[in-house]
Amino acid sequence: MTSLQKISDNKLSAVVLAAGLGKRMQSSEAKVLHPVLGKPIIWRVLKAIDEISKQMANLEQIHIVVGHNAEQVEAYIKQCIEAKEFQRPIFFHKQEKQLGTGHALMSAQKALSGFQGNILVVSGDCPLLTSDSLTSFLLEHKEKQSDLTILTTKLENPSGYGRIVRSKQGQVLGIVEEKDASEKEKQINEIGTSIYCFNWKAIEKGLKELKNDNKQGEYYLTDLIAWSVKAGHKVNCLPIDDWRLVMGVNSRLELQLANKFLNEIVSQRFLLEGGVTIVDPVSTWIAPEVKIEPDTIILPGCWLMGDIQIGKSCIIGPHTSIEGRVRIGMQTKIVQSHLEDCSIGRACYIGPFAHLRMGTTLAAQVRIGNFVEIKMSTIDSLSAVSHLSYVGDTTVGKDTNIGAGTITANYDHITKIKAATVIEDGASIGSNSVLVAPVKIGKNAVVAAGTVITKDVDDESLAVRRVKQENIAGWSQRRKQAGNKNKNPDK
Ligand code: UD1
Ligand code: CA
Repeated sequence: MTSLQKISDNKLSAVVLAAGLGKRMQSSEAKVLHPVLGKPIIWRVLKAIDEISKQMANLEQIHIVVGHNAEQVEAYIKQCIEAKEFQRPIFFHKQEKQLGTGHALMSAQKALSGFQGNILVVSGDCPLLTSDSLTSFLLEHKEKQSDLTILTTKLENPSGYGRIVRSKQGQVLGIVEEKDASEKEKQINEIGTSIYCFNWKAIEKGLKELKNDNKQGEYYLTDLIAWSVKAGHKVNCLPIDDWRLVMGVNSRLELQLANKFLNEIVSQRFLLEGGVTIVDPVSTWIAPEVKIEPDTIILPGCWLMGDIQIGKSCIIGPHTSIEGRVRIGMQTKIVQSHLEDCSIGRACYIGPFAHLRMGTTLAAQVRIGNFVEIKMSTIDSLSAVSHLSYVGDTTVGKDTNIGAGTITANYDHITKIKAATVIEDGASIGSNSVLVAPVKIGKNAVVAAGTVITKDVDDESLAVRRVKQENIAGWSQRRKQAGNKNKNPDK
């Protein structure tokens, strides 16, 4: 094949190997489903591959080889596909027995047979992979007109990884696995990352010739390199400087390190390029998906995981966890609280110890105080729920005050039906009130403290439901005189 043909053959498909047992994780769950900063490893790998298509429109398909815990892995990815998280179509291939990385690729061979173009092969356990690293790698493969390119990196301690064996002239000869390496080969610190690009037409034949005559009795994908060199194909390596971006997760220790490294990369980006203060990046965990605008300060002990957007000049923390899809307007302050799937307006003050659950929407300048739980509710601007309250399935107007200990009784445990509460603009709910839903409190209406509301309250009205107070003169004195004998001296 001439090099010109190779360049015009610019179709691209990707194969992700994710069938392995992941024995070193000691987990009943598939290795690739363990999360790194809030997202399963496999999601991060698929996302990096899928996003190549933003820069390289020729990415056609993504194939994933599943095996161990295949049902779990497949179900999770199908859920992501349904939620339209990936642009490119994803196809599943089952590797019935986990006989090695070469055998894993063979499991997808049928679908790839006759494919004219390049195949990017990625190990499913590299959570820090980015589309930028993959795109540079693919460009190198194209520019050098290679038949096989290996993404490599240099490690101070390369133990466990496959070593890149070169000739005296520096030509790549093959990869030798740790378990099969001689003492001399173990000294090599350039390692293969399990990320390859193959000119499929040239390399496919080699797969059929892989043997399992090694220490682990496996069909190694790495053996394709020596095969390609011998077959006279053009083999090249591209070393990547930051080894963290291509690290594989094999054990819980490496899982912890992957979390730590990704967190370091994310917080460095905010500190150096984002104008965001992170007081203590070691105790603060921020997922790469989180967006934070300048002049916001993140105090120690925060956990920000998910599709989160935080506006300018906010103060978040200390010790605040935010998860799911959350929007936070500028100048908002959140202290020691937990938020999930909610939307918070500008200049709100939340906490300490507030719990804002799914479906909470706060407009501007809302105050939510300590031990307040809010769920599926909308609260308009300038309103306050300052202490010890539960607000669920409720619409609250502007400039209202919900007193300490107010409870919206929204749930009927017998019928399992939830009902709505409406509190209109300017209303004032006295402390320790119960609003039994469905119920509406009108504009500027007042609910007296300690009232149980079961009927709607009209605009501008006062609702009060209490036993009339009675004062008994001299009671205290008579009680003292009666001593222990009689607790109520008037009886
Ligand atoms: C592999 C490479 C090694 C490289 C390292 C980089 C081989 C033989 N070794 O070793 O050279 O330095 O990655 O991280 O390729 N898998 C299957 N089916 C199998 C076996 C594995 O799908 O039968 C998948 C795994 O799920 C995993 C990937 O292939 O996602 C790599 O397998 P793993 O066992 O992690 O290989 P390493 O020992 O890390
Ligand atoms: Ca691995």
